[in-house]
Parts: sequence; C-alpha cells; structure tokens
Amino acid sequence: MAPPLLNDRFLRACRREPVDRTPVWFMRQAGRYMAEYQAIRKNHSILDVCKIPELAAEVTLQPIERFPLDAAIIFADILLPLEPMGLNLSFVEDKGPVIANPVRSGDDVARLKVVDADAFRFSYEAVALTIKQLAGRVPLIGFAGGPFTLASYAIEGGSSRSYITTKRFMYSNPKQWHALLEKFADVVTNYLLNQIRAGVQAIQLFDSWVGCLAPRDYEEYALPHVTRIIDRLRPEGLPIIYFGTGTSTLLPLMKKAGSDVVGLDWHVELDEAWARLGYDVAVQGNLDPVVLYAPVEEIDKRVKDILERAGQRPGHIFNLGHGILPQTPVEHVDAAIASVHKYGQVGS
Ligand code: CP3
Repeated sequence: MAPPLLNDRFLRACRREPVDRTPVWFMRQAGRYMAEYQAIRKNHSILDVCKIPELAAEVTLQPIERFPLDAAIIFADILLPLEPMGLNLSFVEDKGPVIANPVRSGDDVARLKVVDADAFRFSYEAVALTIKQLAGRVPLIGFAGGPFTLASYAIEGGSSRSYITTKRFMYSNPKQWHALLEKFADVVTNYLLNQIRAGVQAIQLFDSWVGCLAPRDYEEYALPHVTRIIDRLRPEGLPIIYFGTGTSTLLPLMKKAGSDVVGLDWHVELDEAWARLGYDVAVQGNLDPVVLYAPVEEIDKRVKDILERAGQRPGHIFNLGHGILPQTPVEHVDAAIASVHKYGQVGS
C-alpha cells in the first residue's frame, strides 16, 4: 500500500481544484546542475542510473531533499524504450543520444519489436522503491516520450535541428510512418500503464519536438497517435500532462489529444495561451530555463509576471518551459521556488 499523500497541491492543480498556493516542480529537476547527481554520475552511466532501481530512486529523491518542490518525477529517459525494441542506443559525452541503427525503411519499421511491459521491469521497481522512500511527501510523476518525438530520434539517429530525415520519411512513406508511430504508441501505453500499477500518481507525455511540425502535419501525422495513448490511459483516472516546445500554433490541436494539463514553453505568454486553450484544461509552465542564469532580482520579476498572468485561476502548475539546464546555479533554483511561494499564495 502506498503511504497517504501529505502534499496533494500538484494533483489538485492538475484537476483544476483550488489550492493554497501554486504548486511547483521542474522538468529535469534531477540532473547535472546538482552536485549530488554528478557524484553518482561519476561512477555510473546515465543508462545505469535509469536501470538500477536503487540509483534511480536515489537520484529522483535528490531534488526533493534539497528543494521544497510539490512533485517528484521518476528518473528515467524518454529514449529507454528504443533499446528493447531493437535500436542500439547510447549516450555519447557532449553529443547526446546516438542510435547506431536508425529507422530508414519500411523493413526497419517491420523489424521493430512491440515489446511487452516486461522490458521495463527496472522502471517499475524504481517507481515502487521511490514511492516507498517518498513516504507520501509529494506525488510521483511517471513519464514517457510522445510517439512523434520518439520517432524523430529513431529516424534521425540522435538529436536534430531541422528534422529533415524524419519529415522526409513521414511525407514519402505515410503508411510506414503510421505503422512506426503505432508501434511507439503501443509500447508507450503499456509502459505507462505499468508505471501506474507500480504507483505513479500522474503521467507526463514529453512530445518535446512536435513544434517542428506545421499544424496540418501535426494533426495528420502526430495527433492520432498521442490521442490513442491518452484514450487508453484515461480510464486509470490519474492526471495526464501533455508537453511540447515551440507549440504556440499547435496548442488548440494538442488540447484535442485529451490531456488534463498542457505544458507550455516560453514562446507564449501564459495568459494568452490559456485563453486560447480554454479554461477547461490546466496549464503548466512556462519560465524560460535560461532565466535561471539571470540575477535573482530578474528571476523574481519573471516568476511574478507568470503568476500574475495565471491570475490565481485554479489549474496552474509552475514549471519551466523546458528542462532545467546543466549550468543552473542551485541558489537560483532556491530563489525561483521562493518567488513562487511569495507570489503564488492564493489571496495574496
Ligand atoms: O525530469 C527529470 O528529472 C527526470 C529525468 C529525465 C531525463 N530525461 C534524464 C536525463 C527526463 C524527464 C528526460 C526526458 C527526455 N530525455 C526528453 C524530453 C524532455 C526534453 O528535454 O525535451 C528528451 C528529449 C530526452 C532525450 C535525451 N536524454 C537527450 C537529448 C539527452 C542528452 C542531452 C542532455 O541534456 O545531455 C538525454 C540525457 C539525459 N537524460 C540527461 C538526464 C539528466 C543528461 C545526461 C547525463 O546525466 O549525462
């Protein structure tokens, strides 16, 4: 049995229920900006940390011990499913993820295995252990990559600026494209259902790179597959967050995927984006992560601005507009959270 939850601010905000103050967590809150994380990474690769439940749990807890955050996110990576599906994944220093045998043809798509949930046993063990160690302090978020974003790594063979190879595949082989995204959607659905069984209390889908698509292409080539995942998670009854970057013109379409919360980046002003989305969905965001490099006075000003734009309407979760960057000073993270506490009080 999971211990009773002592802080449910984050879950309440996901459901657009009233809270005493705006909840706050940061994407990639466990990471290289923390000395505690670097100490572990000195002796273990990123894949080791993901796959050894004791390490994954320890790293997940690090930001919770250090900062007064309102949610934890399980330490893992969106690219983990690629390996058991048959793609040879490694993380190369200063280069990021590399897939040695990228997907370039219909045959490559056919060869990809729709692995069952057993492939990620280590993840569920990490979730169960983390839930135990959190002892109800804050809820735990599980996550996976969106089908488009996973496909972009599988096809490009790593990170990309322009997604030319991905789009060329998509436009030239629409049938195989959809077959590929269906495979990712099925694997991700099972993976997330089992994270839920293991105890996570909310889910975030990171579709980080859908912003490279024209709205009509997003609607045709990406949206149906995200919708498929969310439709199958919906009956579980826990909050689902759907996040992407560069999504300003995609927001109304992204809402159609059916998540409870839409993650916003900093290319939109929170009040305008929320008005366009409609207030029947919660929003998360949206401070530019680079603002955390600025002097604390600037951080304070920018946090205040975002919270004023949210206007104490129920259903805003404070976050960055993308993952926290490695060079972020930890004291600036303290400052940002203090500013959220200061300006995010309901009735202030
Ligand atoms: O939020 C958290 O604290 C949980 C951990 C988490 C990681 N990756 C660990 C990680 C999460 C939520 C992710 C998601 C992820 N991974 C995304 C979506 C979010 C986003 O940033 O858009 C993407 C695109 C990836 C793929 C990925 N993983 C890349 C491109 C890289 C290399 C780039 C980089 O920042 O170094 C990774 C490696 C990675 N995953 C790191 C961490 C903490 C840094 C690696 C390290 O410790 O050496």
